[in-house]
Amino acid sequence: MNDNYEIIYHEFDVVVVGAGGGGLRATLGMAEKGLSTACITKVFPTRSHTVAAQGGISAALGNMGPDKWEWHMYDTVKGSDWLGDQDAIEYLCREAIPAIIELEHEGVPFSRTEEGKIYQRAFGGMTTEFGEGEQAQRTCAAADRTGHAILHTLYQQSLKHQAEFFIEYFAIDLIMDDDHCRGVVAWNLADGTLHIFQAQTVVLATGGYGRTFFSCTAAHTVTGDGNGMVLRAGLPLQDMEFIQFHPTGIYGVGLLITEGARGEGGYLTNSEGERFMKTYAPSAGDLASRDVVSRAMTMEINAGRGVGELKDHLHLHLEHLDPDLIEARLPGIAESSRIFANVDVTKKPIPVIPTVHYNMGGIPTNYHAEVVTLKDGNPDHVVPGLMAIGECACVSVHGANRLGSNSLLDIIVFGRAAALRCAELITPGAAQPPLPDDAVDKIIARFHRLRFADGTKSTASIRDNMQHTMQDHVAVFRTEETLEKGVAALEEVYESFADVNVSDHSLIWNSDLVETLELENLLGCSLTAIHSAWKRKESRGAHAREDHPERDDKNWMKHSVAWVDEQGQTRVDYRPVHSWTLTDDIDYIKPKKRVY
Ligand code: FUM
Repeated sequence: MNDNYEIIYHEFDVVVVGAGGGGLRATLGMAEKGLSTACITKVFPTRSHTVAAQGGISAALGNMGPDKWEWHMYDTVKGSDWLGDQDAIEYLCREAIPAIIELEHEGVPFSRTEEGKIYQRAFGGMTTEFGEGEQAQRTCAAADRTGHAILHTLYQQSLKHQAEFFIEYFAIDLIMDDDHCRGVVAWNLADGTLHIFQAQTVVLATGGYGRTFFSCTAAHTVTGDGNGMVLRAGLPLQDMEFIQFHPTGIYGVGLLITEGARGEGGYLTNSEGERFMKTYAPSAGDLASRDVVSRAMTMEINAGRGVGELKDHLHLHLEHLDPDLIEARLPGIAESSRIFANVDVTKKPIPVIPTVHYNMGGIPTNYHAEVVTLKDGNPDHVVPGLMAIGECACVSVHGANRLGSNSLLDIIVFGRAAALRCAELITPGAAQPPLPDDAVDKIIARFHRLRFADGTKSTASIRDNMQHTMQDHVAVFRTEETLEKGVAALEEVYESFADVNVSDHSLIWNSDLVETLELENLLGCSLTAIHSAWKRKESRGAHAREDHPERDDKNWMKHSVAWVDEQGQTRVDYRPVHSWTLTDDIDYIKPKKRVY
């Protein structure tokens, strides 16, 4: 088998898979610490999906008014609907402050206040005084192109520190030696060679699985590749049922209009011209957390108060704002609205609809970014040699619902945490054991099988079935009936993958084969998401069950963990939520009813 391929071997201290903000922050941190570091990425680094992040990155800097990391922590725990791990949330909110200052020093061109401080805007669910005070202005912004600014800065810094980039390489699978990760096999899309990357630690930073849905704000490259690799390595994914709908995707297009638009004073209306959010969230209104706003919008549309010919979307207004403010703070969304909705935001409202945006679930990790699994009765067993960060991971700081601007924070804080941990654990240049031959052979055999898959169904048709099944059955509101039917439909789609056809057998720029490998990854994500959603008989955060409308802490305050075996059988188990904090500086935040 291996004779069919030219195979090139590499050895590094650390291999990072993915060059979005998390991957680059980890790469930079590792290289700075003197670890030999490779970063493998299927797209050019600055085209990674972080580039699309608009509104900003949260940290209690207090540049625009009083703020504290403890208030940020409270908001994040409440936003997570008490499914987040409080040790990890404490770490996130406390470390946010030095992590942002480092970003500033590395050169991120943040917008500025009159006094030259980092500009911070209001975002949903962010308050002061442990929810009792005013709306917080906590989200640090570079206009409405914050992800773009961060990505470019981190790429330049990583190059400066001599990290080695392998660009347009597709990671196929992890090399496992029992439960120890020893490396990764990747395919160079430009010349067709296969590459074995051996490393003391592999860091997965491959992003979310947004493309399991038909309509989402995620780029076409967001295909759960790390999650798929983890499932094939026999490890589980966690909390996959928690899928965030962003309230303001451009209607019919799926493109994001930042929550920062509401943070700068924008508001939503229905067909009666009513600012309906005050009915659903009397205190926070348009700046309630995303799950609350998306549900309210869906209820307005279902009650016949949607706008447009089909009454199936709503309006976001910015016309009342000063055009100079739009020019300075929201230039990107003004441009997108003009191009994609033919709307001049200074004159007309933007047509918007809740759109799949973010995955709270992913590869379970601890706050050092180490991958964990359930083993021998230990729910926090560390998988040696494997880390995960960012949207592919579930650390879990977002629990059942993420607050806007906590995702850029997540990738920066935990990319940095991964580097700090590796610097503690890894001796640069230490000898690595020989790789198990059969592990690499198995990976190449699977690749070869897919390359020559000669079934009757196109990758595109299977993907289309999967995306529509997810869109129809794992929506903002869910019921036993929709989920049960969805599980049956999705299992059929999964089975149909055995009949996939890859017509292009070339090893060079073969998009048919790339999309097939991506589809297999997406199918694993879809199966774990829909099964976990079906099993969870409560409503919590983004998981809203019409037939189980209340949160049920007694039975369901636990993380779902799901495996998919080689036959496509999904198994769901549970691990406890971490109900402790890291230090005595703050107490465990006790569950209460979540109102905004
Ligand atoms: O609305 C936004 O700008 C998105 C930010 C986020 O998802 O954190």
